[in-house]
Amino acid sequence: METIRGRISLDLDLTGLYARLANYSRIALDLGTGDGKFALCHAQSFPGHFAIGVDSCRENLHEHSRANLPNLLYVIASAQSLPRELSGLVSHITINFPWGSLLGSLLTGDPQLINGLGSVLRPDATLDVRLNGGALAELGWSLEDGVERIRENLEAAGWRVDYRAVMDSRALRNFPSTWAKRLAFGRDPRAIQLSGCLE
Ligand SMILES: C[S@@+](CC[C@H](N)C(=O)[O-])C[C@H]1O[C@@H](n2cnc3c(N)ncnc32)[C@H](O)[C@@H]1O
Repeated sequence: METIRGRISLDLDLTGLYARLANYSRIALDLGTGDGKFALCHAQSFPGHFAIGVDSCRENLHEHSRANLPNLLYVIASAQSLPRELSGLVSHITINFPWGSLLGSLLTGDPQLINGLGSVLRPDATLDVRLNGGALAELGWSLEDGVERIRENLEAAGWRVDYRAVMDSRALRNFPSTWAKRLAFGRDPRAIQLSGCLE
């Protein structure tokens, strides 16, 4: 699979990946990681976890992917076509403030996204999805209706969503991702978090 460090792309095969993961029992994947700040903060805050940031766009990753941490990796891949090397490894997944085709796939319950997630996750995996009003409005959804549709699609895919929380501008300001900060100071500082686990 294609990984990135600074401006350099590196191919990492299964042997190389397993060597990197050898000392970690918990693997957190941040899907649609953007500039990768959330994954970087996770790796710094939880040295016993391995954090993987995945995004289809490489340009935003140049800065944070330079961080020299043993428990951090950035992968260039589409959410609808996750690398086979990740199969069965991931214990926790975050999707923070998705837009574009990632958000579209959550709204439609796209089997390519849902089945791909199913294949990379462990049977006891947990999930946090944070959805913001502006991104949903761009696809013609209100925040409440869009969140409800995504909750239904997650539950249909075998997730039990047992936590729902509103994020206001203060919560967004304090959240460790670049997009959360932009939303906090933007025109529509509202988001909703859904959390759950595989049933
Ligand atoms: C609004 S940004 C949020 C970035 C980050 N999660 C944060 O909180 O700062 C949405 C990200 O989703 C990524 N994205 C959209 N569709 C995607 C897809 N199909 N596969 C992978 N990444 C995708 C975009 O490239 C972008 O970086």
